[in-house]
Amino acid sequence: MDTNRRRTPIELLNEILANSEKMVPEYLLISYEGVLYPANFCSPENFKALQSFEARNDDIILAGYPKTGTNWLEQILKDLETTAGKYTEEEINSRNSIEKEVPMISRLEFRDEKQFQMMKKLPFRRINTTHILPQILPQSIFKNKAKILLLVRNPKDTAVSYFHFYNDMPLLQSFNTWDEYFTAFMNGKLTWGSYFDYLIEWNKYIADDHVMVITYEEMKENQTLGMKKIAEFLGFSLSDDEIQTIAEKSTFKAMKEKSPETHGLFGKIIFRKGIVGGWREFFTEAQNKEMDRKFEECLGGTKIGEKIKYGIYCKA
Ligand code: A3P
Repeated sequence: MDTNRRRTPIELLNEILANSEKMVPEYLLISYEGVLYPANFCSPENFKALQSFEARNDDIILAGYPKTGTNWLEQILKDLETTAGKYTEEEINSRNSIEKEVPMISRLEFRDEKQFQMMKKLPFRRINTTHILPQILPQSIFKNKAKILLLVRNPKDTAVSYFHFYNDMPLLQSFNTWDEYFTAFMNGKLTWGSYFDYLIEWNKYIADDHVMVITYEEMKENQTLGMKKIAEFLGFSLSDDEIQTIAEKSTFKAMKEKSPETHGLFGKIIFRKGIVGGWREFFTEAQNKEMDRKFEECLGGTKIGEKIKYGIYCKA
């Protein structure tokens, strides 16, 4: 490889992954305000820079706990936005060159000061994904009423997905057993903290008219309908054919096949199974009961709890 050439975002991602294999496990994570984050991507400086992000009214924020399908929804959002935007070729080229500096395969909390400065110049609707708690996000997101799409997935499939992610991802320290991991999940001892705390906090925002909740399960059941609801919420006007084209590009199979190009080496880790109900192979009876109790205690009777349809997707 020509080492003087500027590396593409994918090459950078691959490099981070390769280097992390050489890292001492104790240095893989940082703790910020009591929550763990991957040290290769997050730092106190990033969190400080994040506060300089001045949200616009037409910004789109995709918020979701890790492993709830954020990469999937991110692609759908980008395709909906670019298709509805009817951009000229010149606009698309200019956008592509900016995206080399501010890669869209990213999370708000990974961005540095320079990227936030560059983002100010983006002449189109900005889409940002984040896994962090709402109280850590820059408050301009709420003040300026950026549109927030909150993605949720049932806790049992989320837990199983995160288990594989932890064990397959060199940036994170593997767990020896599922049981050991399950305890960590239930106690929020994972990167980005507790699934339950995350949803308890976000539940405080979901009555706002600039927030929409969508579930992984409803997208799996009827992706076209889910996309239409999202497009309506964001004010995008698309024909049925356009929706269909985007849906075809974003099936699990299509995204997995394209992932070496879109996600580099991360693709193999992210696009694992893409199904609902895989948790049944992992949860013991006692773990099912523990999760049922915890869900009821943390999210029973809440709007988000209702959206998750626990009784349908999580009952043993
Ligand atoms: P599994 O590990 O259960 O397969 P995230 O993008 O937030 O990291 O979430 C990853 C999860 O979303 C993985 O779940 C992954 O397979 C699933 N996923 C990614 N793309 C998908 C798609 N197009 N359709 C359905 N599921 C998808």
